[in-house]
Amino acid sequence: MSAKLIDGKAIAASVRAKVKEQVAEFTTRTGVRPGLAVILVGEDPASQVYVRNKGKASAEAGFLSRQIDLPVSTSERELLDLVERLDADDTVHGILVQLPLPAHIDEKKIIEAIDPAKDVDGFHPVNAGRLFTGGTSFLPCTPYGILTMLDHENVELKGKHAVVVGRSNIVGKPAAMLLLSRHATVTICHSRTQDLPSVVRSGDVVVAAVGRAEMIRGSWIKPGAVVIDVGMNRNAAGKLCGDVAFEEAREAAGAITPVPGGVGPMTIAMLLQNTYEAAVRRSAGGRR
Ligand code: GUN
Repeated sequence: MSAKLIDGKAIAASVRAKVKEQVAEFTTRTGVRPGLAVILVGEDPASQVYVRNKGKASAEAGFLSRQIDLPVSTSERELLDLVERLDADDTVHGILVQLPLPAHIDEKKIIEAIDPAKDVDGFHPVNAGRLFTGGTSFLPCTPYGILTMLDHENVELKGKHAVVVGRSNIVGKPAAMLLLSRHATVTICHSRTQDLPSVVRSGDVVVAAVGRAEMIRGSWIKPGAVVIDVGMNRNAAGKLCGDVAFEEAREAAGAITPVPGGVGPMTIAMLLQNTYEAAVRRSAGGRR
């Protein structure tokens, strides 16, 4: 048996089309265009591609899209000043500072300077805290995208065992909280987990977010499990691949996301969703 492929590109396209429609209606009704400011410090080629794609997608959705490129020599103080100006700018509803930042800038300080009401990445501790305690937060885009894909595929989470491999603040931890909020029983695994294969084998849903090429083997996958691969790596042959050995895993899984074309496209779609939400909340008078 071969698993159903979960088509992230198609699901992302439908999210983007829906956001575009909602933005058009919102702008007609209120005269406000949702504004997204994306800040890039330095010239990391991968970051340049990500930022360009975010800008293109947000213009395409009808947003006022602003990209601010700063030299690698930018000081922490200068970046803080810029974030504070954008916090105070009523035409900006979402602020995204592309990570990683140069080593001389404290990422945590910058993230904490963003108004939580404009933190469309969902990285601010206030938003992370709301995710943990319940309440309205901006969800980090990748975990939000994972949940959207699972919902789109009508995957039942209640009472199921979800195994999250990876414990980053950006993906693993928030993904685990979201799955928990849907009443899954959640296990978070990491590099020091004992007998990782047998833990993964007990997962009805497996979220792989470790950043190691094809580490999760097909023999680790419970027959029929839903496998979400967040990895974006190059294998020994230089080919783009995920954290899951795809060809092996698709034989066991019930459904699986490919790399590329799985989780990746969802991240930008959810950024647009968050930015639209930020504009709606602001126009409704909400601040923080
Ligand atoms: N760098 C890699 N992914 C992301 C992301 O989702 N947001 C930001 N701000 N930086 C990133």
